[in-house]
Amino acid sequence: MFPFTHYLRGEVMLKEHYLAWYRQFRNQLDAMRNVVIKKLSEKPRAIVISGMGGSGIVGDLYQVIALEKLDIPVFTIKDYALPKWVSKHDLVVPISYSGNTLETIECFKQALNVGAKVIAISSGGKLENLAKENNVPHVRVIKGLVPRVSLPSMFVALSKSLNMVLGENVVEVEEFEETIDLLEHGVDYVEVEEIASHVENTLPIIVGCIKYAPLAIRFKNELNENSKIPAKVEIVPEWGHNDIVGWEQPYFRKFSALILREKKAKDRKCIAILDYVTKYFEKSGVKTLTVEIKGESTVAQMLYGSLIAGLVSTELAYRRNIDPLETKSISEYKKYFATLF
Ligand code: F6R
Repeated sequence: MFPFTHYLRGEVMLKEHYLAWYRQFRNQLDAMRNVVIKKLSEKPRAIVISGMGGSGIVGDLYQVIALEKLDIPVFTIKDYALPKWVSKHDLVVPISYSGNTLETIECFKQALNVGAKVIAISSGGKLENLAKENNVPHVRVIKGLVPRVSLPSMFVALSKSLNMVLGENVVEVEEFEETIDLLEHGVDYVEVEEIASHVENTLPIIVGCIKYAPLAIRFKNELNENSKIPAKVEIVPEWGHNDIVGWEQPYFRKFSALILREKKAKDRKCIAILDYVTKYFEKSGVKTLTVEIKGESTVAQMLYGSLIAGLVSTELAYRRNIDPLETKSISEYKKYFATLF
């Protein structure tokens, strides 16, 4: 039972938003029925998704999905400048939940300057206005949330827009359906509490194979923003080429590791390396917990894993008596960053 004061703060609200992700996902799918984006006459050379924080991660997740499906590269740019190679041959998708993130707006302007094709995604803000002024297609996501909670809405907006503009179903109907089902029925709250207990009062290290790199980053970001704790990400096989040495001598002992593993894992090498990491960490005094990521498709896995991260981080905020919604340091950083322009 939450103490009364907790009802006045963010964790109850945030938890409800996470638990309603399946509805948010479906609502954005419905909204996309009214969106028309013309198919490009020629396939772009590359897709460049530009966004920061809770918006940029949507690009990372999409990138992994596209690796298995698309024959053109997808890059996610989390910066205030596009790479020099971006040109009229490429498709740039600036995505910003608020529509006011300076880094993303800079990339939007640069994309127009180099003559790239552009589709903008936001819940409103400057990005929407700029898109309208420049006759650029703009897709609206559900308003009134914090960016990290609007992940389903942004993901659907991005993947449906790209399906339209490319004229192919990179993310297929069955994958959208599977994701909704898993978001609605897949979560076991006992497991969420177990993960939260494992991480509590430690510095968590989130470990995964390359495929789960964006999920591990999302996990870290959620622990940062909702639980207000630092966290670290380690990706294998790269882990075995540097981080592994950091544990040779005793250092801080208050670490914990969460090993993200595909429930129906097919990649034998990935499984074997994660087993190695688990044994190595245990031997080094770092307690480990395997988090099995459910889902057939990569789409469903990414969204399900993100939901677990959201719920675990909210649960930890509750245990720490912290408001998960507030992110005042980000606002302060944004004010400082604006003075640089
Ligand atoms: C997540 C969060 C931040 C923002 C980031 C960019 O909830 O608050 O990570 O996502 O500062 O802002 P937007 O998403 O509005 O472009």
